Amino acid sequence: MHSPSPHPLVELPIRHLNRGDLVPCADLCEDRGWPRDEHRWGLLLSAGTGYGIDAPDGKGLAATCLTMPYGADLTAVGMLLVAERYARRGLARRLMRHVMETVGDTPLALYATEQGQPLYEDLGFSPVGRAERVGGRFGAGGPGGPGGVSSPAPTLVASRSSVTTRPAAADDLQALVRLDLPVFGADRTHILARLPAFSDRLQVAEEHGELVGYAALWPSGPTEVVGPLIARDTAAAQALIAALGATTDRPLRVDVEARHKELLGWLAESGLEPLSRTTVMTYGIPDLPGDAARRFAPLTLATG
Ligand SMILES: CC(C)(COP(=O)(O)OP(=O)(O)OC[C@H]1O[C@@H](n2cnc3c(N)ncnc32)[C@H](O)[C@@H]1OP(=O)(O)O)[C@@H](O)C(=O)NCCC(=O)NCCS
Repeated sequence: MHSPSPHPLVELPIRHLNRGDLVPCADLCEDRGWPRDEHRWGLLLSAGTGYGIDAPDGKGLAATCLTMPYGADLTAVGMLLVAERYARRGLARRLMRHVMETVGDTPLALYATEQGQPLYEDLGFSPVGRAERVGGRFGAGGPGGPGGVSSPAPTLVASRSSVTTRPAAADDLQALVRLDLPVFGADRTHILARLPAFSDRLQVAEEHGELVGYAALWPSGPTEVVGPLIARDTAAAQALIAALGATTDRPLRVDVEARHKELLGWLAESGLEPLSRTTVMTYGIPDLPGDAARRFAPLTLATG
């Protein structure tokens, strides 16, 4: 009996993803050795726009991509994933072309893995920076370590400054948005408003009653991720991480913008080891907007 020839993969329809797609999205992550991260997908699909291609074998999704809009100033792109069994057949290129057509003139930014970078370069993205992923038990690597989370973090620069930290309260949100805008360089109120529900902990740093930084801690499988991390300087960033690290006995993970070498050195002393590295790339703008000196870590690599 004659069976119809399979649909060419690059002609498969692209559809919008919604919260009903959390499990197939997580399955696709697992297929590529990424954490399943349904919790993160939940945030991404409610605050951003997910695109997917259903697998022609009927087993979930063959490919995903996500855009996170920040008005006309910026759209972040992330979660570009193609199931291993459909790799190298043009699905990622097709999804990226679709996204680029959809956003029109809005500048794009993303964190590229080594696997993704050649495609983005081919599509006209330029490298503008790097991020280092570090992870491990916070406090395990200091002098006298391994120590566990309760041991003091080594050479805490914060102890020389008068920065204090505390859990964020509901009425901090406005001040947090005001602090964030010039640092991130685009309005991400729609994300920040979701942080209290998304995070296990949202911590703010203050000096003389003025907000000088904030950071969130959120769960990713067995790990707790620190991000976003916005701080006036390294000392405030350290104070925030130390405070968040003390609230959990799980391993921590942070994607630190590579220019922040002092923080990376301190994290290494604190027991967090290099895990991987990504390249920050932009399209339509020469660099990320905002203030790189105060931007220490993104919320997730998919959101900036
Ligand atoms: C990166 C990824 C999405 C590419 O998906 P894909 O559908 O296989 O890619 P395409 O078939 O559209 O290929 C597009 C181009 O990407 C590059 N590319 C694809 N896979 C690659 C790989 N494993 N290593 C290096 N380059 C690769 C090539 O330039 C390719 O063009 P070519 O086939 O003409 O040489 C896929 O490998 C994947 O899901 N990887 C794991 C998750 C990941 O790293 N995602 C990127 C996040 S930034």
